[in-house]
Amino acid sequence: MSNFKDKVVFISGSSQGIGKAVAMELGLLGAKLVLNGRNEKKLESAAEELKTAGVELITIPGDVSSYNECKRMMDEVIEHYGKLDWLINNAGMSGGGKLEHTHGDVYERIFGINVLGSIYLSHYSIPHLRKTKGGILFISSVAGMIGLPSYTAYSASKRAVTALAESLRIELHDDNIFVGVNFPGFTENDPQKAIYKADGSMGVLEKRSDVKANPLLKTVSRIVTQMRKKRFYGYSSAQGWFVRLGSRLFPGIVHLGLKANRKKIMDMQ
Ligand SMILES: NC(=O)c1ccc[n+]([C@@H]2O[C@H](COP(=O)([O-])OP(=O)(O)OC[C@H]3O[C@@H](n4cnc5c(N)ncnc54)[C@H](OP(=O)(O)O)[C@@H]3O)[C@@H](O)[C@H]2O)c1
Repeated sequence: MSNFKDKVVFISGSSQGIGKAVAMELGLLGAKLVLNGRNEKKLESAAEELKTAGVELITIPGDVSSYNECKRMMDEVIEHYGKLDWLINNAGMSGGGKLEHTHGDVYERIFGINVLGSIYLSHYSIPHLRKTKGGILFISSVAGMIGLPSYTAYSASKRAVTALAESLRIELHDDNIFVGVNFPGFTENDPQKAIYKADGSMGVLEKRSDVKANPLLKTVSRIVTQMRKKRFYGYSSAQGWFVRLGSRLFPGIVHLGLKANRKKIMDMQ
């Protein structure tokens, strides 16, 4: 039997992109899903797609950067399903530019969603996960292993998410709650993927022809395998694994590589 049969899985930011694709994969393995996002129209359209494929789910619209909203959302999960087995802290936004040119609002929003959103949902999920001996998976990024130029807000927020997972892993050890952190590399974007521009406005991320992106399904399958095998660290590509190893063992070489490629990295914004 699938490890996910009848498991209740809350995936933040699952109305598109990686979150929606993970929901589809877990749903087809028998999990009962909770889809989330702020835009209700987008959320309902994702829900229809998954339901047509036979996935059992509910949608809970809400903003993860609000402490009160996170309580309300977790209460709704328990009211509907009576339990929670997995929380995937996936909702995340990127953007900005060089620190000097980036508006303070961008930092507030990116930290609000990526860091506080993961903290708040985890906070409210722990009492429920203790009962089911469930798990929390944090979606960080390769940019959360090393600080990338022109990605100061995003890199710093994803590094914080990584530290959060490391803290919780120990904190929840005696509760038998699994904690993991996944580091996707560049992954094929949802056509609707938006990012914050340096001035605080939002724009759709154009398809990047200069970067080789991982296929979405590969990223998804690595995430699901990590959950199944309950591994603390998960990488969606060999690139992620090498960056992690390199930044631990040969930080000087990684720094030289970043320096040599700085223009290319900064132009990716
Ligand atoms: N794609 C990549 O190349 C890549 C690489 C490394 C890591 N990651 C990480 O993987 C995760 C998913 O990335 P993605 O590319 O699939 O993102 P995406 O296409 O931009 O989708 C983001 C999802 O999060 C939701 N969301 C955004 N802000 C939210 C908020 N405040 N509250 C609730 N939901 C919110 C969005 O819906 P609404 O806008 O309607 O709220 C959407 O469903 C993120 O954490 C990202 O940092 C992605």
